[in-house]
Amino acid sequence: MNLLHIDSSALGANSASRALSAATVAKLQAAHGDLKITTLDLAATPLPHLSGGHLMARMGMGEPPELATELAAGGAALEALIAADIVVIGVPVYNFSIPSTLKAWIDWVCVAGKTFRYTEHGPEGLLGGQRVILTISRGGVYAPGTPMAVFEHAESYLRIVFGFLGVTDLEVIVAEGLAIGEEQKSAAMAGANAKIAALA
Ligand SMILES: Cc1cc2nc3c(=O)[nH]c(=O)nc-3n(C[C@H](O)[C@H](O)[C@H](O)COP(=O)(O)O)c2cc1C
Repeated sequence: MNLLHIDSSALGANSASRALSAATVAKLQAAHGDLKITTLDLAATPLPHLSGGHLMARMGMGEPPELATELAAGGAALEALIAADIVVIGVPVYNFSIPSTLKAWIDWVCVAGKTFRYTEHGPEGLLGGQRVILTISRGGVYAPGTPMAVFEHAESYLRIVFGFLGVTDLEVIVAEGLAIGEEQKSAAMAGANAKIAALA
C-alpha cells in the first residue's frame, strides 16, 4: 500500500499539525507493515503558484524549457496523489483557511481527466477508493455551534475539494484552541492523539 504524507506548516519541529500527522503515519505504519511512504513537505519544497505557462503546458500547448523543473514537480505531485492508497495531510489554519502552499498543491492535483472529469451529469471525482486523513491544528475554536464556526474555511474547504475529487473516506482530526493557553493546548493535543490512537 502507498501512503502519501504531506505537511504544510511553516513551523517545523514546533508544529502541532506536523506532530499529529506524524503520529497518524506512525499509527498506520504499525497497523500495515507493508506501507510504502512518500513524503511531501510543502513548506520546505513548495510547488509554484500556477502560471499561464504552466496551464498552457497542462492543456498541451507547449512546454517552455524554463518551466521544465516546475512542471516535473507538479506532475510528480499529481502522480503521487493518484498512486496513493492513503493520504495524510498536516494542516495548520492560517487566516481562517489553509496555507497558500497547500492551496498551490491543490491547484496542481485538481486536473480534469486525471483526478476528476466532467460528464453530462456534472463533474465526477476519479480518486474513488482512497482514504484521506487530515490533521488540523488551529489557534482558535471553530467547532460547530461555537460563535466562530462561520469563520472556519480550512476543514470545510478541504472536505469540498476531496469530495469533488471523489473521496468518500475522509477522516478529520482537529486540535483547536491551541493559542488560548497551555492547559487548553495540552487537552486539545491529547484529545487529537487519542483519536489517532483509535484510528482503524
Ligand atoms: C500566519 C498565521 C495565521 C494564523 N491564523 C489563524 C487563524 O486564522 N485562526 C486560528 O485559529 N489560528 C490561526 N493561527 C494559529 C495557528 O492555526 C496555530 O498556531 C496552529 O497550531 C498552526 O499549526 P502548526 O502548529 O502546525 O503550525 C495562525 C498562525 C499563523 C502563523
